[in-house]
Amino acid sequence: MPVDTVLHNAKIYTRGRIVEAGLAIDEERIFKIAKETNLPPASTKIDLKGNLTLPSLIDPHVHLRDQQLAYKEDFFSGTAAAAAGGVTLTIDMPNNKPVTMDSKSLRERMRLAEKRVVINVAFYSAFPENLGEVPSIIEEGAVAFKLYMSQKIGGLDIDDDDMFLHAFNAVGKMGVPVAVHAEDRETLENMRRRMEKAGRKDVEAYVKAHPPQAEVKATKRIIQLGKKSSAHLHFCHVSSAAALNAVLEAKNMGLPFTCEVTPHHLLMSSEDLKRYGTLALADPPLRTKDDVKALWTALEHGSIDALASDHAPHTMEEKEVESVWDAKPGIPGLETMLPLLLTQINDGRLTISDLVRLTSEKPAQIFNLRGRGSLDEGNHADIVVVDINREYKIDSSRFYSKARYSPFDDWKVKGKPIKTFVNGQLVMDEGELVAKPGTGQIVRWEG
Ligand code: DOR
Ligand code: ZN
Ligand code: ZN
Repeated sequence: MPVDTVLHNAKIYTRGRIVEAGLAIDEERIFKIAKETNLPPASTKIDLKGNLTLPSLIDPHVHLRDQQLAYKEDFFSGTAAAAAGGVTLTIDMPNNKPVTMDSKSLRERMRLAEKRVVINVAFYSAFPENLGEVPSIIEEGAVAFKLYMSQKIGGLDIDDDDMFLHAFNAVGKMGVPVAVHAEDRETLENMRRRMEKAGRKDVEAYVKAHPPQAEVKATKRIIQLGKKSSAHLHFCHVSSAAALNAVLEAKNMGLPFTCEVTPHHLLMSSEDLKRYGTLALADPPLRTKDDVKALWTALEHGSIDALASDHAPHTMEEKEVESVWDAKPGIPGLETMLPLLLTQINDGRLTISDLVRLTSEKPAQIFNLRGRGSLDEGNHADIVVVDINREYKIDSSRFYSKARYSPFDDWKVKGKPIKTFVNGQLVMDEGELVAKPGTGQIVRWEG
């Protein structure tokens, strides 16, 4: 019996090295990685022309929107953007309309997504008001919980440490991680008030209103609470040297914490805001060059666990406004992350094994996504083929995302995802989407 597909003439990253081989896929899984003569016959054969073949990206921080925010992005456009960017699994954030915060809202999101997605999607939930509902949310399939400290999203009172601790314990007991947006609400509100009073409405004022101290204060608060619970806490988009140091110190003490960094915080600084304006506005905002340097140092030391896009699409009208206080923070990142990172590899700042660890292996481990994150026999056949030598310019007018803008527009990059396979099926070929809505699957917590 022939297998479904054989990818031949590839350079495959598997078990920490690159091998010249072929890859057989059967029933959505990797059946065999071997020299061509040792591969079974296949119904479909695809020549990868000697290109580098990697586990596709697992992006643990994505806002797919849809439902009442579908005007910004929907399950189809967001996952098409992912496919174009070599990402085959995104974990969807809960700050939706309605907020994902109980089994009912989660079930509804999964029901809608199932028909529309072209890659695999897993879901965060915000905490419910009644923590007794936590088990039912996990049963429904949420792979993690998300805690926003800058504003109340979900049912928790964000000024109440006891509630946080109860929440961490409820989730920790079940082994499910909690991802945290660590910015202190009170600091943000005070600083913003001060800036508005001074008549400021420019992007620099926004950065001032989101100071590193807000990130540090919230981070330290979470660390203290984390020490009292067994929960796995994951720090989202760490951006400042001071907050990073607090996280690394806690990790060094052996606490079960992990952290992620975004490409925009690694590749731009607050100085770039002058040029890019609100298109580069995000929470937390771009930081100083010293902060950026600290992120890179930690990355080089292997202290960062994961890279995540924090793909946060808004309409152009929501970005280009007169006053920065009316602007929506967020950068669409799904279609730029991999090209930007491949460029860093070409520049000698990252290795291929760093890339795979940070964007596939570790995200799979952190979020307990079994059988994913590496090209091993038996794993799901989620694969990206890249042309590591292709030079071009980022062009946001060609994005599949509804957010067709990017601070990275016109940036020269070297390295392009040219084929993306989801569950063994080709979904993107040379930048073109070749899959129908519903090709992707919903990935649920497997306990
Ligand atoms: O920049 C951001 N955008 N940070 C957040 O925390 C929320 C996100 C969004 O949903 O747009
Ligand atoms: Zn956030
Ligand atoms: Zn986010």
